[in-house]
Amino acid sequence: MARSALLNVMVQAALKAGKSLSRDFGEVQNLQVSVKGPSDFVSQADLKAEKIVRDELLKARPTYGFLGEESEEIKGTDGAHRWLVDPLDGTTNFLHGIPQFAVSIALERNGEIVAGVVFNPATDELYTAEKGGGAFLNDRRLRVAARRVLSDCVIGCGVPHLGRGNHGKFLVELRHVMGEVAGIRRMGAAALDLAYVAAGRLDGFWEAELSPWDMAAGLVLIREAGGFVSDMRGGTDMFGERTVVAGNEHIQKALLEVANRPVPTR
Ligand code: IPD
Ligand code: CA
Ligand code: CA
Ligand code: CA
Repeated sequence: MARSALLNVMVQAALKAGKSLSRDFGEVQNLQVSVKGPSDFVSQADLKAEKIVRDELLKARPTYGFLGEESEEIKGTDGAHRWLVDPLDGTTNFLHGIPQFAVSIALERNGEIVAGVVFNPATDELYTAEKGGGAFLNDRRLRVAARRVLSDCVIGCGVPHLGRGNHGKFLVELRHVMGEVAGIRRMGAAALDLAYVAAGRLDGFWEAELSPWDMAAGLVLIREAGGFVSDMRGGTDMFGERTVVAGNEHIQKALLEVANRPVPTR
């Protein structure tokens, strides 16, 4: 597996931030946590990891823009490139001692995501993808799952919570999807959920109210693993709509149709 110089920069940044997260995960009860909004937490661990990633990426490419969850956007003098970074995806898991969290880094070129890295330091799983170069979990090439019918599938989702999302709409989607599938999982870190689709662990995934940094790296991972992604309307404006539906060719389509079924009248 040959990585480009740019992907190597992203990997090094993710590994370095991952080390910092691992240290903080070991002392999670001592971390300072602030509340951004209802059930929207940010800890010192998120902030430290974001600084590490931002410093590494901007040192390597000082002209690129930078959009991270925890800091002010840097526009950059290069109009074509932008980093999209979630320094700690799965903060709620992290703060509860659940080892399902990740650093997520993506590179956008002229509006298209061309490279992505998702790293879970708790399991040492490093997901990487570059447009045209395939997707990998550590050194292993990834392929989305091959199942063709929803009744065989395990599907991931995000569940809206206090202060976030349209609870009624989600319950309708859930009611429809749960009646058609073999299982549903809510793992709590969207970047990893998408990486799991790329790895064939989840057959599909849908979630609403996501931000670009939650999805960007996962989108290129799934496409490079032969999968399909759309927004909840079936279009390609995942960032604008803030929604995503993913899977292989068959399951992505089927999940989109089932999740969008109209509200039952009785
Ligand atoms: C959250 C996680 C979670 C998803 C939320 C995200 P954060 O990101 O990805 O799985 O359901 O919508 O905000 O805040 O832990 O980086
Ligand atoms: Ca957050
Ligand atoms: Ca996130
Ligand atoms: Ca985050």
